[in-house]
Amino acid sequence: MKIAVVGTGYVGLVTGTCFSETGNTVTCIDIDARKVRKLSSGEITIYEPGLEHLFQRNLKEGRLRFTTSLVDGISDAQIIFLALPTPPGKDGAADLSYVLGVADELGNLLDDYKVIVDKSTVPVGTADKVREVIARKYKGEFDVVSNPEFLREGVAVDDFMKPDRVVIGTRSERAQRLFRELYAPFVRQGNPVLFMDERSAELAKYAANAFLATKISFMNEIARMCELLGADVDMVRRAIGSDERIGKRFLFPGIGYGGSCFPKDVQALARSAAEVGYPFRILESVMHVNESQKVYLVPKIMDYFKGRLQGRKIALWGLAFKPNTDDIREAPALYIIEALLAEGVHVHAFDPEAMPNVRQLLGDRISYGTDQYSVLEDADALIIATEWSVFRTPDFEKMDAAFAQKVIFDGRNVFEVPQMQALGYYYESVGRQP
Ligand code: UGA
Repeated sequence: MKIAVVGTGYVGLVTGTCFSETGNTVTCIDIDARKVRKLSSGEITIYEPGLEHLFQRNLKEGRLRFTTSLVDGISDAQIIFLALPTPPGKDGAADLSYVLGVADELGNLLDDYKVIVDKSTVPVGTADKVREVIARKYKGEFDVVSNPEFLREGVAVDDFMKPDRVVIGTRSERAQRLFRELYAPFVRQGNPVLFMDERSAELAKYAANAFLATKISFMNEIARMCELLGADVDMVRRAIGSDERIGKRFLFPGIGYGGSCFPKDVQALARSAAEVGYPFRILESVMHVNESQKVYLVPKIMDYFKGRLQGRKIALWGLAFKPNTDDIREAPALYIIEALLAEGVHVHAFDPEAMPNVRQLLGDRISYGTDQYSVLEDADALIIATEWSVFRTPDFEKMDAAFAQKVIFDGRNVFEVPQMQALGYYYESVGRQP
């Protein structure tokens, strides 16, 4: 099949690359000429394990190409995916100006039947709006489909190639036939392609993210209860996770959810509920809990140092919002850093991938280590903010040599409490007794 993908951000690049991998011819379109030049010359613009190899191969074999020209990019495409940004606009509602702007241009450019697909996370009713905008200018036949993406950063290729389900919102049989064919290679294991109306597909995406965010905030509150009541959240987590109705996954407490999706989507769903006159109370609480969870370690650190943080040096492991990504959007580490800087702390941070992005944002307001041990030199304490695998199994001899104070505040529970006690560390984590 011939496919166009408008927008070469995270979702667009993964979508384009993975569709080319299954034999389609894919043209990715972006207005950013520098990015298109880089991608065309084989330089990948995002960090995502496993993607680069597929990207290089499909580029070389001519199934994947990049252009800045919408007219050129869509000319022979049967399906046009819109993978455009939908940043939070005023009052937390998703800003649709990119999506509707491209829809308007498509209205001028379409000259035969094509399927236009919303791949970005967009509010309920967006497919109708896109259809309306195109139909103002183009009077021929076309379909607008909602096909939300459920991939996670860090495991995006696997999630895309082997999805738990594919959600296709369209009532057009012609579009359904095309999508059945397009997704056939991805659902070989028997995972379902779920056809539904556009609005249900749009809401399903928000509902999935909001439910997962709810699970996290719920566990973060259980963790706080564990601390107050003398229980251990790992035990509680295992006990409840064994119930299949609850499930084992996504029950890990920590310093809150971050990233480009959960915070934005929970806010947008709460906002669209308010717009239709329904106060979505659970989501208000989920957001509230997450806000306080991001800086939840700071009062603990304050207590430990009896309120005297001025001039101390604190090491920080992890800046990305989660492991295996360089993405720092809404990363809890950034909130911790701001709170510590406000107290006059010197922050010395290390992250395997995210340091260039943080340097761009914070410059030399903090300092950056060459590895996870170098930041421990003379540190009064260590905070762990992201559970990168390299932090889970450090060389404890090296760590001991660099880190005389041996005080750890672990926001991601990467170590076991008895292990750290045996090694002589003062160790506080989330929802477990020190
Ligand atoms: C999330 C969803 O998981 C994807 O299904 C969805 O497609 C994507 O958003 C999106 O809408 O584009 P992602 O933001 O990449 O994916 O990250 P997750 O792996 O879901 O983690 C989100 C946050 O939750 C991270 O900050 C992570 O540390 C936190 N988390 C996750 C917990 O605190 N506890 C857990 O048990 C799981």
